[in-house]
Amino acid sequence: MQHVAVPRKASEASSASTPIRALRLGVNIDHVATLRNARGGMHPDPLRAAHLAIEGGADGITAHLREDRRHISDTDITRLKNELTRPLNLEMAATKEMLQIALRHVPNACCLVPERREERTTEGGLDVKGSAKMLKPFVAKLRDAGIRVSLFIEPDPKTIEAASDVGADIVELHTGKYCNLALEHDSNGVARELERHKKAAILAASAGLEVHAGHGLTYNTVQPIARIAEIVELNIGHFLIGEAIFGGLSMAVRRMRVLMDEAREALSTSARGAK
Ligand code: PXP
Repeated sequence: MQHVAVPRKASEASSASTPIRALRLGVNIDHVATLRNARGGMHPDPLRAAHLAIEGGADGITAHLREDRRHISDTDITRLKNELTRPLNLEMAATKEMLQIALRHVPNACCLVPERREERTTEGGLDVKGSAKMLKPFVAKLRDAGIRVSLFIEPDPKTIEAASDVGADIVELHTGKYCNLALEHDSNGVARELERHKKAAILAASAGLEVHAGHGLTYNTVQPIARIAEIVELNIGHFLIGEAIFGGLSMAVRRMRVLMDEAREALSTSARGAK
């Protein structure tokens, strides 16, 4: 595991005056679907991964239904909504099509994200101020249906103000830049980004918004963010699904070896019997 320049002491990234609430983990299972879609068919199944994530301690499941359906499908959302025992956080762009899908399924929460077809993952946060006119009624329709609305934003004061103005319940702070700087071993940049997140989280909480964070988090980068007391939920996907390969691959190979050896053993036994 590579070493990155992130603060290790709680004092470097904690907010003294806030009561400490539990920190929930939402596991994003998009990339189980990415792997499934590489072959078509049903395996590996994102719903099975969701159940395992919950077994492992996830408080909720996050899935991003993209306009191009590159990973999660409409059927995945139906199955997750019908069969999950924990809250579903549906990430989606603020489009008419997605609004209808969300209103049909009524997930626990919708996280509105910017979406561009050519991007590999969600790059940058929503331009809440610039899209306020569209977002306000959009957020209201979701909230009227009993869905909590989260906006995926950069940790920026003006955007937090705008998120509050359009009626969001939650802001999810985009930790991508912080994580990239950590990967580049830029300790000054990391410290600067952590400070931005801390200030943004305090401001958002004081405006009555629930504060979440996510994107690019790893074992190395999670703790300084987890020490910001105002943040009450982290959404983590790609790294966890990647790590699951390393944690689970030797077990899967061992199981395959056993099945192959059993079959060969049976073949030898029947060949001996035929003589
Ligand atoms: N939060 C939001 C809003 C996202 O769009 C994503 C990526 O789909 C994540 C969290 C999780 O990011 P990662 O897969 O890098 O952990």
